[in-house]
Amino acid sequence: MKSYIKRNRDWWNAATSIHVKSKLYNLASFKKGKTSLQKIEISELKNVKGKTLLHLMCHFGLDSISWARIGAKVTGVDFSANAINTARKISEENNIAASFICSDIYNLPKVLHKKYDIIFMSYGVLLWLPNLKKWAGVINKFLKKGGTFYIVELHPFTNILSYDFKIFYDYFDRGPYADDSSGTYTNWNSKIKGVTHQWDYTISDVINVLIEEKLKIEFVHEFPFTMYEQFPGLMKKNKNGQYVFKNKNIQIPLLFSLKAKK
Ligand SMILES: C[S@@+](CC[C@H](N)C(=O)[O-])C[C@H]1O[C@@H](n2cnc3c(N)ncnc32)[C@H](O)[C@@H]1O
Repeated sequence: MKSYIKRNRDWWNAATSIHVKSKLYNLASFKKGKTSLQKIEISELKNVKGKTLLHLMCHFGLDSISWARIGAKVTGVDFSANAINTARKISEENNIAASFICSDIYNLPKVLHKKYDIIFMSYGVLLWLPNLKKWAGVINKFLKKGGTFYIVELHPFTNILSYDFKIFYDYFDRGPYADDSSGTYTNWNSKIKGVTHQWDYTISDVINVLIEEKLKIEFVHEFPFTMYEQFPGLMKKNKNGQYVFKNKNIQIPLLFSLKAKK
């Protein structure tokens, strides 16, 4: 398991340098005050003001700092040192207080000894986790009684589809998969090399591990749009800046969100 995580971390350290300069993350407009958060999480999570918020797998912190900008007391966690150093720099340069911890989320119980009002995770996180049951245990450990866990994530249904929209993969195969393709989701032509390891989960896997931790699921929502060009050439941006299929007849779940209480 260790070498999987190490290879993934090396890849994320390299990807961070590309993502910081990317159009998708648009650091320049973030610096001018635009939130990096999407409408879904802003409207579904609500009332973060004054709350302690633990953002797991926060990448280089734009979403963490965006929550801090609207009043949350934020701690971001990521295992990429490059991502965490960049997040600290952006927080300082923009004068928005947020703290950041460089840690594998499975190792977090050894380095963090606080509980939070809210735990937030978003877009492209679960596929990097080798053990979903252990993940749910981490959520439970760091959530205060009465606290809220919220995730908005790529819908696992799309795992059966290839980039050119063919039914190609087995929905029930949990992996791991080794991926040696080049490019990253901010630019499929970017020069980034290396092997990553990923895992898949069904939607019921995600729900059931949280139920096993005795979290009370408040809702699960599914959405026919996403926030990056998941199927290159087949998608366009709608007026809300979300990616939808050019072919209006294709209506499949691309994202899901889930809110649970402890
Ligand atoms: C797709 S990004 C998250 C995207 C985030 N919503 C954003 O848009 O900034 C996934 C992040 O998970 C981190 N990551 C992957 N595996 C991890 C692990 N085991 N522990 C902590 N962070 C991890 C990566 O370094 C990366 O920053």
